[in-house]
Amino acid sequence: MTRCRICSGPVREFLDLGRQPRSDAFLPPGELDGEFFFRLAVGVCGDCGMAQLTEPVPAEAMFHREYPYRTSQSARMSEHFARTARRLMKSVRDRPDPFVVEVGCNDGGILPTLARAGVRHLGVDPSGRAAGEAAGRGARVLTAFFDKASAAEIRSAEGPADLVFSANTVSHVPDLASVFAGADLLLAPDGRMVFEDPYLADVLARTAFDQVIDEHVYLFTAASVREAARRFGFELIAVEPLDVHGGQLRFTVARPGRHPVGGTVAEALRREERTVPALDGFAARVERARDELVTLLRTLRDDGRSVVGYGATAKSATVTNYCGIGPDLLPFICDSTPAKQGLVTPGTHIPVRPPAAFADPYPDFALLFAWNHAEEIMAKEHAFGAAGGRWIRYVPDVRIV
Ligand code: TYD
Ligand code: ZN
Repeated sequence: MTRCRICSGPVREFLDLGRQPRSDAFLPPGELDGEFFFRLAVGVCGDCGMAQLTEPVPAEAMFHREYPYRTSQSARMSEHFARTARRLMKSVRDRPDPFVVEVGCNDGGILPTLARAGVRHLGVDPSGRAAGEAAGRGARVLTAFFDKASAAEIRSAEGPADLVFSANTVSHVPDLASVFAGADLLLAPDGRMVFEDPYLADVLARTAFDQVIDEHVYLFTAASVREAARRFGFELIAVEPLDVHGGQLRFTVARPGRHPVGGTVAEALRREERTVPALDGFAARVERARDELVTLLRTLRDDGRSVVGYGATAKSATVTNYCGIGPDLLPFICDSTPAKQGLVTPGTHIPVRPPAAFADPYPDFALLFAWNHAEEIMAKEHAFGAAGGRWIRYVPDVRIV
């Protein structure tokens, strides 16, 4: 029996995706030996309700200097973060010389907008290369994990923070307590931490099994985050659903009693009463999606139709490894991230090529791994559709669109 990483309660496993590589560990084609694998399975705590990987990979193995993901690769996400930055700046504008920290800023996040507005800020990210790119966009950054030690260092150098913001990072940290401990050290007495991460209810509703990756150590709900925050000395004061990355929640926490608890918290809790019951049948739906996708790809191959992948996402590692999709079914995946191009995908060793390879010549079908960026990618690649190409999706179900 696995024990909950938040409350030590019993964790009931509800999906086992088997042997998986590190999802962002793209490798040079000539260096395939000694690849790291682990068992990817997710369960839910019977006591506090937190959904979590039962055998997480250490943070240092996932987030290091060469971490390849880049936030800036999506125009829509860049716009999302610019808009978020403007809203957050408004929320601190009546404080004297406000100080905002972004945890897991990657190559910029909200920071370039703050920098342009002259708002005092600091990004904290263990990926030195990505953080260097954020600095190139005018942001001040510290290459480090956000925990008690780095929070204390920041506080003594800069003073207390009015706001800590974090997107797609808090749920990635196995030692969640260390993030809250860092926030507690760093934040002013009435400071707030705002974070946005994948929402378990959306994962279940869309059968988005590829949201289960090593980096998504936790899949949050309003109920589980409220309980975790309480245990770590904070109070959940607001919840906002976000229509990015396949469905997320944005949480605001503060020290208990410092701010009124907004009606959005009770609303979110009410909405998700059926989340845990929805776990039943999820594994069976995931197996069905796998069988349908593999059958479709084999049929297309046997009919002599060409298929390539679009978006070498971290999520695609789960799909290709769980479904057994290799270069025989998918000769390459195109992706706009320079740090991924020329490498092969973890575990399944499918070559990653630049987007220009997509049109040279267009395949008959494209398997959309970056389904969370569907609108942006389909608009960009409208010529593919115009040339008779068809998209294959597998979330919320396997279909040709
Ligand atoms: P994303 O779905 O954001 O995250 P994750 O890796 O955590 O699953 O990854 C999107 C990938 O798709 C990323 O490698 C960049 C790539 N991409 C393109 O190749 N073209 C595009 O137009 C966009 C928006 C993304
Ligand atoms: Zn628990």
